[in-house]
Amino acid sequence: MIKVITYGTYDLFHYGHQRLLERAKDLGDYLIVGVTADDFDKQRGKINVHQSLMERIESVRATGLADEIIIEEYEGQKIDDIKRFDVDIFTVGSDWVGHFDYLKEYCDVVYLPRTEGVSSSDIRSQKRNISLGLVGDGTVLKKFYDESKYVNGIEVTEICIYNDEEKKCYENEDVSIIDDYDRLLGNVDAVFIVSHPSMHYQHIKKALVNDVHVLCESPITLDENQFSELLGLSQKNNLILMESIKTAYSTAYDRLLLLIKGGNIGDVYSVDSTCTSIRQFNENSWNSISAWGPVALLPVFQILGTDYDEKHINSLLLEGKDNFDLFTKIDFKYKNAVASIKVGNSVKSEGELIISGSEGYAYVPAPWWKTDYFELRYENQEENKKYFYQLDGEGIRYELVAFAKSIELGKLIGYVSPEVSKAICKIMEDFENKELNIIKKY
Ligand code: CTP
Repeated sequence: MIKVITYGTYDLFHYGHQRLLERAKDLGDYLIVGVTADDFDKQRGKINVHQSLMERIESVRATGLADEIIIEEYEGQKIDDIKRFDVDIFTVGSDWVGHFDYLKEYCDVVYLPRTEGVSSSDIRSQKRNISLGLVGDGTVLKKFYDESKYVNGIEVTEICIYNDEEKKCYENEDVSIIDDYDRLLGNVDAVFIVSHPSMHYQHIKKALVNDVHVLCESPITLDENQFSELLGLSQKNNLILMESIKTAYSTAYDRLLLLIKGGNIGDVYSVDSTCTSIRQFNENSWNSISAWGPVALLPVFQILGTDYDEKHINSLLLEGKDNFDLFTKIDFKYKNAVASIKVGNSVKSEGELIISGSEGYAYVPAPWWKTDYFELRYENQEENKKYFYQLDGEGIRYELVAFAKSIELGKLIGYVSPEVSKAICKIMEDFENKELNIIKKY
């Protein structure tokens, strides 16, 4: 019996896929089809695959051509599969000529002519692109602009910047730069807001009133009620209001949450997260609590929930600037657990995340908010496990994919729930209202 194996993403299954599978089947007696997992596609830079793994597997199954379907999850798996299934022929389309010659050591390699004129990418791009506007300042905007180029289905068409110096970064880019936010809102479907947090409420409200979807750098507002008002407005107008915390969209962080929720360290007793940096201040600087608070609070609220019994905010404030904290520490008391965050723009500490449980603990080394690696550790060290995941573009591109998909589906998908966003706004509000202990003024 001649065994044939082939691999593909098979997104939005089309005639080219069908023909490839038919000819692959004709090469032998038994056809194994490897369908690439979402994570693996992300690693290969294939972003915004439209269908889920299950849907793609179902399309392959429906052809009736595959005798066996497997999932391709990691680099180097092809060699393992060929040995494991005792494969005689590896085949793919001619777009890959030469690429898989290294497999000739294990089996025959056949490149079948690719069907002209059809591809998943073409089908995806035929759907109308979401035109995205950017507003705000700083390096985040440029990073976001660069990252948007990796994402299908969304295109940055206009940027509103007020600072002339920052406009220069876009001199060689094919994008219109303006300084009129109202005009921008008239030209785009969606907007990413990275203005100063004190401007968010105003910027978001204007966008929602003008029928524009919003992705806003966290914190969404500095006031809990304002957040509720904006959420209500977005729901009334069928628009997406999404919080931008890029860590939330990284694969490693997402897997970490699943493992913790799956009971892998037992009951959680404590979440401790630290995010610090030393930055130059200027007129537009964000204070420590708004710059770092949302990301530090994310694991606390996502693991222990937002219904804490008590909290204590301790801040070190800048002399003469009452709402500018150089460093803030917040302690939370829950029914059966505690948590703490340490954040600062003028302090350096070990930026780690530790989640302590009744059976073990999760350790995410600094800088944990750019997580691509973490460990689960136990009393018996032999049980310790290390987890690695690829992190491209600090999570920004995955965040953009989630935003585009939410707009397409007409509902916010996963990651940061409105409940967590609201709890973050409440912390900002309490800080603004000085419900805190001031340690000392510099
Ligand atoms: N294929 C083909 N003819 C096409 C498109 C794909 O023979 N017109 C083959 C590929 O060479 C590969 C398999 O089908 O062996 C699965 O391809 P996949 O990458 O999933 O499909 P594409 O349409 O090429 O996807 P994309 O545009 O995202 O690269």
